[in-house]
Amino acid sequence: MAGLLGIEDLSRDEIRSILDRARDFQQTPSQPVRKYELLRGKMIVNLFFESSTRTRTSFEIAAKRLGADAVSITASGSSVSKGESLVDTLNTLGAMRPNGIVMRHAASGAPHFLARHLAIPIINAGDGTHEHPTQALLDARTILDHRESLEGLRVAIIGDIAHSRVARSNMYLLSKFGAQVVLCGPPTLLPAEFAQLARGVTLTWDMHEAIEGADVIMMLRVQLERQNETPFPASEYFSFYGLRLEHISLAKPDVLVMHPGPINRGRELSSEVADSQRSVILNQVENGVAVRMAVLERMLN
Ligand code: NCD
Repeated sequence: MAGLLGIEDLSRDEIRSILDRARDFQQTPSQPVRKYELLRGKMIVNLFFESSTRTRTSFEIAAKRLGADAVSITASGSSVSKGESLVDTLNTLGAMRPNGIVMRHAASGAPHFLARHLAIPIINAGDGTHEHPTQALLDARTILDHRESLEGLRVAIIGDIAHSRVARSNMYLLSKFGAQVVLCGPPTLLPAEFAQLARGVTLTWDMHEAIEGADVIMMLRVQLERQNETPFPASEYFSFYGLRLEHISLAKPDVLVMHPGPINRGRELSSEVADSQRSVILNQVENGVAVRMAVLERMLN
């Protein structure tokens, strides 16, 4: 595997081995942070053309915990804001001879373009509305910390499905392992074609139907930055698609509530739910580091 561009291209065995390795890197909060020498002498460039808190910092922490050097470049602080083209930025970075590049870009397919240009591993940290593979991997790691297997689980993914790379990558991964995925959102944000993207995927506009008997509820942010028009009245969104405590009783008693972050309290979920016992949102963040360590180790060695 020369890099990681999407979940769609990965086999079950490849996914399983990343998730197993990530378990070795999970750390308990009570113990001092463990550092490794596995990528000593390697340099990783984090190239972020879109804003990010969790993904960028966790890639940086993951690289450093493995003993690698990590440099982060954000579009606003780089020559991209001075009008440099993507190819020129890439050639400049390539000349600095990094061992791998982690890239986030607003255009779907941007990391694939980069991978065709540079002969080093490229890791997709989110490309437009296409994929966000490490998010799906850390989500799977989080679910598997609480469940024996993904097979047969009912996973409701609720919110702005149309613009979500998180939904796509999760759908591909969960479907490969035999989970049942129910996508739910307002009709304008739930394209009918999604039912054909992967096996075991169904669609509903009704949040109650989506949550009924769910093992996992994954909430998504409304991605206003990707919408060119107003797809629904903002004031009504929370009453139809916002997750509240009263919904939780429709799901399995041990349901996991997830969210890739950043969360908007009172918009896609209530504060009570975000802070409830059922929420594993911060576990997802923690697993982000472990999973990205497993990915970097595999791609760069
Ligand atoms: C997501 C993203 O950027 O795709 N966030 C993340 O990586 N944790 C989802 C989002 O921005 O809503």
